Amino acid sequence: MIINIFVYETIKKNYLMEKEINYLTQANILSNRVRLSVDDATIEFNQLYLSQMMDEVSHLVEGRILIIDRDNNAIYDSFNDIRNTKIDSFEVSRSLKGERIATIYHLERYGETMYVSVPVIYYDRILGVVFMSISLQEAFNTINNVKNLLFFISILTLLLIAVISLFFANLISHPIKILTEAMQRTAQGKLNEKVDIDGNDEIGQLSRAYNFMSTKLSHIEKQRQDFVANVSHELKTPLSSMKLLAESLIMQPSTDTAIYHEFLEDIDSEIDRLNEIIESLLNMVDLDEEKLNLNYKLTYVNYLIEKIVNNIRPLAEKKNIKIIITQWEKIQIYLDQGKIYQALINIIHNAVKYTDEGGKITINIEREGRFAVIKVTDTGYGIPQESLPYIFDRFYRVDSARSRKTGGSGLGLSISNQIVGLHQGTIEVESQIKKGSTFIIKLPMDINQL
Ligand SMILES: Nc1ncnc2c1ncn2[C@@H]1O[C@H](COP(=O)(O)OP(=O)(O)OP(=O)(O)O)[C@@H](O)[C@H]1O
Ligand SMILES: [Mg+2]
Repeated sequence: MIINIFVYETIKKNYLMEKEINYLTQANILSNRVRLSVDDATIEFNQLYLSQMMDEVSHLVEGRILIIDRDNNAIYDSFNDIRNTKIDSFEVSRSLKGERIATIYHLERYGETMYVSVPVIYYDRILGVVFMSISLQEAFNTINNVKNLLFFISILTLLLIAVISLFFANLISHPIKILTEAMQRTAQGKLNEKVDIDGNDEIGQLSRAYNFMSTKLSHIEKQRQDFVANVSHELKTPLSSMKLLAESLIMQPSTDTAIYHEFLEDIDSEIDRLNEIIESLLNMVDLDEEKLNLNYKLTYVNYLIEKIVNNIRPLAEKKNIKIIITQWEKIQIYLDQGKIYQALINIIHNAVKYTDEGGKITINIEREGRFAVIKVTDTGYGIPQESLPYIFDRFYRVDSARSRKTGGSGLGLSISNQIVGLHQGTIEVESQIKKGSTFIIKLPMDINQL
């Protein structure tokens, strides 16, 4: 609109200027003609000659022509209307002083009108004025047509822009709407919602991030369900054994005390097992919560391992298993003693548990780059290759039949892994079936104690 107003004003100005120049030129030409009617002797207009000559040319000029003498008398009027009348207009008096003037007026009767006034100069003397009055109505009509056209174009442009804007706004808001709806469904519990929005723009990236989050969420939900199922199963097993043992005692009231005693011992050990599982579970929940609350203390890894081995030795001796510690240097690092103790005892206890009588366990402590590395090698059953990826999973046990005999819940390694992970370390396993396994625990020396 603003541009159109500007264009309109410019066109109008130029158009009127052109008209002005045009009429001033015509008036000049007339003024030169009028000079020819001046009597050289009297230096007055020859009125007859002037009228004849002007009548010849006046029809060539649009508008009305007045010739006014220096006493403001109109001595010629192309409309033959006012003759020998005094004309006292502003333009005439200015032109009698030598100025060429063009002005535009709005007249009630004729509309837009241009007055053009040019002096008639005869050898340095101003003898009169050529005064023209031209209607500009037609010109203004043309200009108004342009104005209307421009207005029409403005409205059209406005409409076009509105339509295009609406189209693009919709193009942008549509995927956002899809995303919002998908998020609402996620919030209502449908965790594996995916949106199908392509493109490399921000919304495309947002959609991909959303899809990724969705996958992750449903994965976590699956893990949670598996975990609950596993826990229930693990808790049910000892409970059903106890129930079975108790029922058989109730069914046979006259059993002798020795059998009573034996059954009660079985029930007691099942209760121990239940306790163990629940303790491990609580432990695991604690670890989840304690993520940032590790109690770091500068510790000699060597002494910590000696302590563990001393505690586990009676168990190993029962199975006639030797435990050897080899160490090249004393290593001191920051760690949470209680937690690392637990992580390592789980692993060393496994080594004892899954090694036949007369076996050997070697524990090697050394420094490797920026890590303190503890290797626990046994000469036990080993772990089949296909089971290796799972042994750190909660409740996973390689051979459930054998594990039932040895006891345990399948939570030990999962807890160890979690603890070492909290210390920004790793646990790796190498194993050969029937030859033995090596658990490699790496703890960073420059641990970030956040
Ligand atoms: N040193 C090892 N040699 C052979 N198999 C092992 C060894 N350590 C672990 N495993 C296998 O990995 C499984 C998982 O070990 P994990 O310590 O997590 O559970 P668990 O010992 O069965 O029970 P828990 O430790 O909770 O009492 C074990 O059941 C066993 O099959
Ligand atoms: Mg274990």
